[in-house]
Amino acid sequence: MLSDSSPVVDVTKRIALIPGDGIGPEVIRVAEQVLTSVVRSRQLPLTWTAFDWGAEKYLRERVTLPADAIEMLRRDFDAILIGALGDPRIPSNQHALDILLGIRFGLDLYVNLRPVKLLDAKLCPLKSVTEKEVDFVVFRENTEGAYAGVGGNFKRGTPDEVAVQEDVNTRKGVERILVYAFEYAVSRGRRKMCMSDKSNAMPYGHGLWQRTFADVRKRFPQIEAQHLYADTLAMEIVRNPSQFEVIVTCNLFGDLLSDLAAGLLGGLGAAPSANLNPGYISMFEPVHGSAPGIAGKNVANPMAAILTTGMMLEYLGYRDEGARVEKVAADAVHASVMTPDFGGTFGTREVGEWICDRL
Ligand SMILES: NC(=O)c1ccc[n+]([C@@H]2O[C@H](COP(=O)([O-])OP(=O)(O)OC[C@H]3O[C@@H](n4cnc5c(N)ncnc54)[C@H](O)[C@@H]3O)[C@@H](O)[C@H]2O)c1
Repeated sequence: MLSDSSPVVDVTKRIALIPGDGIGPEVIRVAEQVLTSVVRSRQLPLTWTAFDWGAEKYLRERVTLPADAIEMLRRDFDAILIGALGDPRIPSNQHALDILLGIRFGLDLYVNLRPVKLLDAKLCPLKSVTEKEVDFVVFRENTEGAYAGVGGNFKRGTPDEVAVQEDVNTRKGVERILVYAFEYAVSRGRRKMCMSDKSNAMPYGHGLWQRTFADVRKRFPQIEAQHLYADTLAMEIVRNPSQFEVIVTCNLFGDLLSDLAAGLLGGLGAAPSANLNPGYISMFEPVHGSAPGIAGKNVANPMAAILTTGMMLEYLGYRDEGARVEKVAADAVHASVMTPDFGGTFGTREVGEWICDRL
């Protein structure tokens, strides 16, 4: 029993939910039900609060990411679970850029982690591939590279227009993503690491990746490290995905290669992701966008959001619960409880109910 003088430690973990636009609210509603099921069955000290940041708020109030949002998130929350942002009524995509990039940069979420784990062989477009053969992770540098937003236009709108979009690579930025990828490999019992760049065509920026990789790999002699140019890697992921365990690359190539890899899982509806600042508040999101064409029809695949919720539970210290969510999600696919994009006949809500019943 606690004595009167014992400090009361609040172990409650707090989650900020941002459903967002299009199918975002539909898949986040299912994710919330999954959280509720896990919290009730395992008595976890987890709470969450929803924020209405997205297209509607922007159109109504001209507010994208509120001025104090980053400070408030850092102070009051341990994780963020976000649906998707993007609305055809806002062609500039300004609100989505402000919110997503604002959080990524504001909280320095430098690790983009995308697991590529096949739930069921029947979802993979490659022939005769088993689940065990598609099981790797892609680490994408998340704060620099071609997406750093450095550049400009000169003589804009004239026939002489010049557009410059810089590829920014810093020693600190490259080193920290490489170190995190190696540490992840060691902690998960993974043995193989593939670093990918285009140092043959981009000798300055990606030369830095090469030199940093040469330094960092020496610190992890137990990991078998190799290098592939990004074009070769794209081909190899399709030709023989089983050769990969951990891939680490820059922002631009990580974006493309992880979507290619998501194709091996059955599409974007199956691809979860995390944006991490390890040890600090981090953001979890399904890879897919807001899919406005199917919004409100109860056909959006909630699987990516459910798997993302499992990743978030694991990050918050609930590894068994995260693994359980992933297992039950795979069971749903084995039982063909799937939405139409997976070839099933179930709705978003029905897939969610099936999974929650078993959690
Ligand atoms: N992280 C994000 O919030 C994010 C990511 C990508 C795109 N977007 C935004 O989303 C909007 C639409 O972009 P897009 O069409 O290029 O990409 P998208 O991912 O929304 O859709 C691509 C295709 O996949 C399908 N799809 C996506 N998610 C699905 C799901 N869960 N279940 C079933 N089918 C699914 C869509 O119907 C569409 O055919 C744009 O405004 C874009 O900027 C946002």
